[in-house]
Amino acid sequence: MNKNIQHLYDIAAKKQRTIIGLMSGTSLDGLDIALCRCNGAGTSTAVEILRFETVAYHNIFRQEVKSIFSKRTVDLEKLCLLNEWIAVQHAGMINDCLVKWHIKKEEVDAIASHGQTIYHAPKSLHQQTMFGNATLQIGDGDHLAVHTGILTISDFRQKHIAAGGEGAPLALYGDYLLFSKKNEERIMLNIGGIANFTYLPSNLDASKMFSTDCGPGNTIMDAYTQQYSPPALYDEDASIAKRGTANQQLLTTLKLHGFFEQDFPKTTGPELFNLTYLLEAQKRSDTVSLGHEDVMATLNQFTADIIVDALQRTMQQKNFSVYASGGGMHNPLLMQNIKEQLPNASFRNIADLNINPDAKEAILFAVLANETLCGGHTNFSGNIPNVSMGKISFPS
Ligand SMILES: Nc1ncnc2c1ncn2[C@@H]1O[C@H](COP(=O)(O)OP(=O)(O)O)[C@@H](O)[C@H]1O
Ligand SMILES: [Mg+2]
Repeated sequence: MNKNIQHLYDIAAKKQRTIIGLMSGTSLDGLDIALCRCNGAGTSTAVEILRFETVAYHNIFRQEVKSIFSKRTVDLEKLCLLNEWIAVQHAGMINDCLVKWHIKKEEVDAIASHGQTIYHAPKSLHQQTMFGNATLQIGDGDHLAVHTGILTISDFRQKHIAAGGEGAPLALYGDYLLFSKKNEERIMLNIGGIANFTYLPSNLDASKMFSTDCGPGNTIMDAYTQQYSPPALYDEDASIAKRGTANQQLLTTLKLHGFFEQDFPKTTGPELFNLTYLLEAQKRSDTVSLGHEDVMATLNQFTADIIVDALQRTMQQKNFSVYASGGGMHNPLLMQNIKEQLPNASFRNIADLNINPDAKEAILFAVLANETLCGGHTNFSGNIPNVSMGKISFPS
């Protein structure tokens, strides 16, 4: 037997595995690195977070990725170069963390790498009959495996698409396995670049649960801040938005897009929700000369409203709990704008579930890798593809 296959078999047979979960979202703020101990699999999965760090991206990294990120036309050579370079950069960040944490690579069983999303093209966005749903994450797993010396599972989203999904949100699987709770209607809300949530029904009926994107989370607010308030990368603590007033005409126009009418589940990205989308809405609502603070206040309200609308459509009059994660939960105005419109929701702290909210997405990828290695027995049904995700790369 090839020694790599033997090693893989040994990892899969272990009682518990140490897995590094990686997440790098559309915000391009940094690489989330969560060192997790995963016990068991399926609905008896238990995860302990041993270490967590977000390694902030330096400007060069951000600029390089932005040169191709969510653009319809790019330098193909740059795309090719970045596929390898991002993986090498990520590997360096992992290696540095392991040194800092005094953890040897031999102590880590696997890396679960999301990669860097470059383009997300569900059929609803590209609308070309000949083509199906598509998405592209780069930062190749073979390079990560070789440069860290750790077995790597990567590129999780392709299998989901191949099996009929849109490749996102994949949070559904880990949310269900880790956070389903009898007698509690739970919403796991993640506000990253894009806002998404998973609905976990109180009767644990897997056929009723789903994950969906709501629309933009921080992405338009971030892009606007970077354009008009450099060098700031985002509206920290909503300091800009708090000084403005939401403009109702612009707000109404921002919400006029077919995406918001589509049934759940659905996915989207900065390919649609970007500064061009904002400018078009400003032109149509005759608000092009609106001050920056008012635009930011409007964008903040827009994000809150589309999240509220999606949650109300899902929960109707029922009482439910919201567990928020992602960088948007640190935006006080955004959270206030959401909370005051949802009187039947109690906002709980995901830390009460022993999870650092900033680490949650990275942990969920560790759980997906854990399932690929030793799970695969949970029967997801309905629209939820029942597949093992990710490609396995050996370090040698
Ligand atoms: N203190 C804060 N105030 C306002 N926004 C914040 C704050 N901290 C983080 N954010 C937002 O969170 C984003 C990062 O969220 P994250 O969950 O990492 O998204 P992604 O998964 O897209 O990388 C930042 O770009 C910023 O918009
Ligand atoms: Mg991030």
